[in-house]
Amino acid sequence: MDASLKSAPKRAAAVGAALPHDSAHLHVTGQASYTDDLPEPRDLLHVAVGMSTVAHANVGGIDVTPVRDAPGVVDVCLAADIPGANNFGPIIDDDPIFATDLVQFVGQPIFAAIATSVDAARKAVRLASVDYEELEAILDPLSAVEKGSFVLPSETLVRGDPEAALAAAPNRVSRRVEVGGQDQFYLEGHIAMAIPQEDKCLLVYSSTQHPDEVQMLVAHATHRPANDVTVICRRMGGAFGGKESQAALIACIAALSADKTGHPCKLRLDRDDDMIMTGKRHDFVIDYDVGFDDTGRILGIDFEMASRCGMSADLSGPVNDRAMFSCDNAYFLENVRILSHRCKTNTVSNTAFRGFGGPQGMFAIEYAIEDIARALGKDPLEVRRRNFYGKDERNVTQYLQTVEDNVIDEIFDQLVASSDYQERREDISAFNAGSRILKRGISITPVKFGISFTNTLLNQAGALVHVYKDGTVQLNHGGTEMGQGLYIKVAQIVADEFQIDIGNIRITAADTSKVPNASATAASSGADMNGMAAKKAAAKIRARLTEFAAKHFDVAEADIEFGDNEVRVGDTTVSFAQLVQLAWADRVPLSATGFYKTPKINYDRDTFSGQPFFYFAYGAAVTEVVVDTLSGENRALRVDILHDCGDSLNPAIDIGQVEGGYVQGVGWLTSEELWWNSRGELGTHAPSTYKIPTCSDLAADFRVELMQSNPNPEDTIYRSKAVGEPPLMLALSAFHAIRDAIATDACPAPELRAPATPEAILDALDTCQELNDE
Ligand code: MTE
Ligand code: MOS
Repeated sequence: MDASLKSAPKRAAAVGAALPHDSAHLHVTGQASYTDDLPEPRDLLHVAVGMSTVAHANVGGIDVTPVRDAPGVVDVCLAADIPGANNFGPIIDDDPIFATDLVQFVGQPIFAAIATSVDAARKAVRLASVDYEELEAILDPLSAVEKGSFVLPSETLVRGDPEAALAAAPNRVSRRVEVGGQDQFYLEGHIAMAIPQEDKCLLVYSSTQHPDEVQMLVAHATHRPANDVTVICRRMGGAFGGKESQAALIACIAALSADKTGHPCKLRLDRDDDMIMTGKRHDFVIDYDVGFDDTGRILGIDFEMASRCGMSADLSGPVNDRAMFSCDNAYFLENVRILSHRCKTNTVSNTAFRGFGGPQGMFAIEYAIEDIARALGKDPLEVRRRNFYGKDERNVTQYLQTVEDNVIDEIFDQLVASSDYQERREDISAFNAGSRILKRGISITPVKFGISFTNTLLNQAGALVHVYKDGTVQLNHGGTEMGQGLYIKVAQIVADEFQIDIGNIRITAADTSKVPNASATAASSGADMNGMAAKKAAAKIRARLTEFAAKHFDVAEADIEFGDNEVRVGDTTVSFAQLVQLAWADRVPLSATGFYKTPKINYDRDTFSGQPFFYFAYGAAVTEVVVDTLSGENRALRVDILHDCGDSLNPAIDIGQVEGGYVQGVGWLTSEELWWNSRGELGTHAPSTYKIPTCSDLAADFRVELMQSNPNPEDTIYRSKAVGEPPLMLALSAFHAIRDAIATDACPAPELRAPATPEAILDALDTCQELNDE
């Protein structure tokens, strides 16, 4: 028997332990291999993409002769060279891989140059001449609404009688708010390497959240059946939704190039091209009209939302649906109308980004809540509490799902106390009274985020577990690792199922040849679904081992117990490895698949009603900021977060997700500004002009707690809750703290747009100045 296994220390249960990320030692030593780190095949060629330089035009002709003749260039690939479908759209076929006679945004791919070096390919693509007959370009959502330019039909959800409720309300506020988009800014940009295999098969390494979709779209584009394409992704250097659908474009171009040349081909976008060519978070313009009583309770509310979808549908349908599902946040809206426009603009097609429309919906309702409080001269905290969902009444959402797991009051009570919110609010008033230039502000905001894909069929997952003769395990499932810690969580679950050390489990790359038809790792449901599927696979093998042990040692199955790398069989104890060895010798199968589908959910897209979500994840944050009213600069002073992960699978990973989500949300709402000029060219396509938060932007005092003793009432994997996206929306507290800092008695509800850059803050201060002067 293996000595190291025998001497292994007694272990704590893996599930619930704060274990480090499985690749942490590789990340920090630079040994983790990302797609670009894989050994390059001997005859590898490099691909660069020729992009449209205009926002909207008919294309008269494309002359790539100078590209073909450029040094190092081996071949050129155009739409006409695509043997299959010229489309990488995930839902609707409106996303050409290469534009043909129409270009629809600056940066749209038109052709690829395939060369012996990256440099040669990149230099060559600039040499093409494209004959553009320019058309009028629609560059913002409001112009699109005006012109009736949409990627999908507008949708309306009405509940109660909002019109009557608004008309009868004693108080009413209406406003137009704007919230900007956001680049995913994963550290590893989009990349794929396609390697021709024998007998016309193709192997594709892709940095993708959705290997299955890449497999299907590569198969369609290259005119192959899916079983001739294998897609592998060991890890991504961040994805944040940006590699959910759009990784397929990069993979398709690499695959088409490989087919055309017969060589392995790699396409790695540089940062500027990545930002110009691939989609981002949707920016929204939202009009709301809210009626409320004197206590601040909402009586009726009307939202009209217009989002920038860009030139195609991509995931804009479900993103905008989720915005409609999220504009209640944690509040009961009895009489509500939500009108959602999915605007077609001549800009890059926007896509998934952490929160998936949820953040924009919550941005709208939180702004409205703040306006109510400020109109009534109340602390917004009081108005928030006044409107929270109830437990047994006032607990049905606008899409008619009953909220059964509401813990928002508990979270608020605990956080208000632990953050000293009330005392600090008084301190801040005193500080502001004595400070002319520097002004402080504070805000507490809630999050309630629905967990599940709103498209029910996507809520399925598979896993594949192998136990080898020496008692070690290889684990595979349909989920992808993007830094979020999915793989360690699933390994913890399998370790506990076998009661063996986590070190005996080898985590393997997402691979379409191991687990087929997997959904994207998205909607925060990676651990919920793949964890459950892997548990089921491991449980099958464990059951076979149990059955075998009972027979072999002649004891009842009830007398067999797995624990501490060992198996107690009646009065005897054998190591897990010994039992496995014996079982193998008796020809017991030691490999199994597991499959999970989320229960309870069902939802009718036509009526926007049903139960789209299995459960909700909750949280709240208090942020205190100081604003320099001369420069518009601001700093976070202190952040307190209390977040609900149910019974956390791994508190270290979960706290990391909460911190990272919050900070990324603060970037979205305060510093990350996407700016297009009047020709539709993105001006902010590198970190020099596009400001993501850095370590120095963190509040010096940053306190994050997970809710304790709070198991998920639904039967999720070990009663945990998903954590990937919900914390991003905790950053709404930072935005409203800034707004609070700017507000004065004469100007209680400043007109602040998001992102609240220094420029936006100065604009808000200017508007307030007029009121202050009166
Ligand atoms: N965390 C890291 N470090 N990197 C990422 O790319 N993506 C987020 C979130 N957390 C992301 C991340 C997004 S958009 C989602 S949907 C979830 O992780 C996906 O993983 P999960 O379902 O395993 O939580
Ligand atoms: Mo996350 S936006 O669901 O990939």
